[in-house]
Amino acid sequence: MSANLEIANLRKVFNTGKPAVDDVSFTVEAGEIVVLLGPSGCGKTTTLRCVAGLEHPTGGTIRIGDALVSAPERGLLVPPRARNVGMVFQSYAVWPHMTVRQNVAYPLKGRGLSGAEMTRKVDGALDLVDLAQYADRPVVQLSGGQMQRVALARSMVYAPRLLLLDEPLSNLDAQLRLRLRDDLRRIIKAAGLTALYVTHDQLEAVVLGDRIGVMQNGKLLQMASPEEVYNRPADLFVASFTGASNFLPGRLRDRQGEFGSVELDGGLVMQAWCAQGLAPGAAVTVAIRPENIRLEAVAAENRFDTEVVSQRFQGVQTAYALRLGATTVEALATGTTMPHPAGSRVAINIPPQTCWAYPAQ
Ligand SMILES: Nc1ncnc2c1ncn2[C@@H]1O[C@H](COP(=O)(O)OP(=O)(O)O)[C@@H](O)[C@H]1O
Ligand SMILES: [Mg+2]
Repeated sequence: MSANLEIANLRKVFNTGKPAVDDVSFTVEAGEIVVLLGPSGCGKTTTLRCVAGLEHPTGGTIRIGDALVSAPERGLLVPPRARNVGMVFQSYAVWPHMTVRQNVAYPLKGRGLSGAEMTRKVDGALDLVDLAQYADRPVVQLSGGQMQRVALARSMVYAPRLLLLDEPLSNLDAQLRLRLRDDLRRIIKAAGLTALYVTHDQLEAVVLGDRIGVMQNGKLLQMASPEEVYNRPADLFVASFTGASNFLPGRLRDRQGEFGSVELDGGLVMQAWCAQGLAPGAAVTVAIRPENIRLEAVAAENRFDTEVVSQRFQGVQTAYALRLGATTVEALATGTTMPHPAGSRVAINIPPQTCWAYPAQ
């Protein structure tokens, strides 16, 4: 049975002093996929290893289903084996001298199952990852993507209460990564598993996660649906890490509720969503995703005249550098034609709900 996971005030300080995980709290509901997203070194793996029991947390509590598995302040630490979690790592971690079937059957040994039960469970897991026809092949004859699916089948075969995945796609080539990325969500959902998945790849997070938690320097900055993380980033770091590439300095002139007007350096005035606590007069940075800048203006609000500095053909889209007042912004337009040559003028719209003002940094 899948269980929920509840992490409260988790802290891990290695002897180096600076916390690797710093007061992190979140829950994963039963059957939910939560992705921890963040740059290398932000504490994703350490969080996952604390849940698995491979790392001894410094503080906070971890609960899997009804069971408290980690509470160092009370001297409680359930060993990894007794937590009944499945793990998939970056490296394939399959046993090279075994067949696919033997690899997947391995975790079932010593659990007192009959031969028939074992076969049924292994066949079920192999079906799930679409490897039934390879069951009796030596695992070394498989591609990287297939090996990773063997590792996945092996981690799911004993129906763990929780599945932990640490960048399982990062050793695969780009094309395989895309395919397995789409497969993974389907497989985890089909098995009804609760999953905590760790990656530094924002697209992987968006495609896989029911919710995404963005981490930086051991802290969890935001935990929300992919749509919310992409459309209302909690702060400048989350905005930039998930793809906002335009950061315009300015000053908040006035605000009415969630929205306000910002005078950008150079004098242009822009309507923007304002982060909590921002008061008129505050120095702000307005973050904008390049794909939210609409070339060919249709509305009066946040309509600006720009000059095309450069255009770069990128296949299904074109990247433009546009002169906007005192700065240059990056904009993306989908489609394979390039109607705006360098030097031409183009009017743009940037819908106010896609302009986010944060305290300046
Ligand atoms: N065994 C360890 N001893 C000391 N520091 C560690 C150890 N493992 C991880 N760290 C440090 O903890 C921080 C978080 O690491 P990690 O959880 O591996 O990050 P991520 O998985 O997000 O890349 C990093 O600064 C890393 O150097
Ligand atoms: Mg890691």
